[in-house]
Formats: sequence, structure tokens, C-alpha cells
Amino acid sequence: MAVLWRLALASLAFGAFGFQMPGLEDKIPDNVLIRKNPVALSDSLLAKARDNFADNCLPCHGAEGKGDGPLATSLATRPKDLTNARELAEMTDGEIFWTITKGRRPMPAFDQKLMDDERWGLVHLVRGISHTRPNTTPKAAAGGSAKPQPQRVAPASAGAATDGKKK
Ligand code: HEC
Repeated sequence: MAVLWRLALASLAFGAFGFQMPGLEDKIPDNVLIRKNPVALSDSLLAKARDNFADNCLPCHGAEGKGDGPLATSLATRPKDLTNARELAEMTDGEIFWTITKGRRPMPAFDQKLMDDERWGLVHLVRGISHTRPNTTPKAAAGGSAKPQPQRVAPASAGAATDGKKK
């Protein structure tokens, strides 16, 4: 049922009209949902991700990702607290990547601004900030009652070093 609906939407978006309907492209494709982060975690990757975070995310999410950036209070929707392990543990890496890529109003899309690798680097950074592990199991597939298991895999601070050996 859900699959059929998705197919119907996809054919609407890509077939009948030949262009993407506003909003419909926001539906995360299954292959992205379960995608493993293709970019290896390393010190240099995190350094770059921290720069990108400061330039692009900090205004809303705050220097530490707590959702308290200078623009936060002027937005209709409060930016998410990216240190919230419970919430972030429920998102797959692909969902985080997709959120950054496509945006989520009022959060802008970054597909034109940051390269794929940079966005996957930010996924690693968000994992570090939230103390959550890389995750490729969608919440629904886990029975909807998946127990988030926050674990320390990367330093809490976006600024700390890692061993760069993340698989
Ligand atoms: C204009 C403000 C703004 C900017 C800039 C912004 N965000 Fe967001 N972000 C938000 C808001 C608001 C939400 C919550 C949207 C909602 O609740 O539906 C959000 C949600 C998220 C989420 C989903 C978290 C969850 O628990 O559901 C992630 C991940 C995220 N942002 C990462 C980033 C990253 C990484 C950047 C920089 C590349 C960024 N955001 C830039 C405002 C922003």
C-alpha cells in the first residue's frame, strides 16, 4: 500500500508532468533511507565538516548544535537540537543526509551549496554531536519501537579529534 502510493507519487513527479512537483521530491527514496555513509570518517573530514557547520548550520542550530543559534528565535519552527541522542538515534544516516540535502522548512536545502561528500561529512559531525552511531535501519523496519542506543563513537564536541578509523 505504502509502496504503491510512493510509486504513484514517483510517476506523478517524474512521469506525467516531466518535472518534480513541489513537495513531492521531499519524500526520501528507499535507497537513500538505508544508505551507509559512503565517506570515511577522518580528522580532516571532520575539520572540513566543522567549517561547513559554522558557515551553514550555526546560525540556526547554534555553535554546539543545541538549536540555539542567533536566528533560532526568529524562525517559525524551532531548529532541532542536534545533541538530542534519542531523536538522532531514530534517524538513519540517509535521513540526516536527505534532510541536509533537501532541507526541511524553514531549513534550506544544501544540495546546491555543499558537495555530496561535504553533506555526508556533516552526517558524521551530527553523529558526533549527538553521541549516536551510524544507523542504516529505518525506524519503521525496526518495528517502530526501536530502542535508540546512543553510544559514544565520536567526540561530543564538534571540535575534538578522533582516531579517524571509523568504518
Ligand atoms: C534557517 C535555519 C536552519 C539552517 C541554516 C539549518 N537548519 Fe537544520 N533545521 C532547522 C529547523 C527549523 C529544523 C526542524 C524542522 C522541523 O522540525 O521540521 C531543522 C532540522 C534539522 C535536522 C533534523 C533533526 C531531527 O531530529 O529531526 C538536521 C539533521 C539538521 N537540521 C541539520 C542541519 C545541518 C547539518 C545544517 C547545515 C548544513 C542545517 N541543519 C542548517 C533549521 C535550520
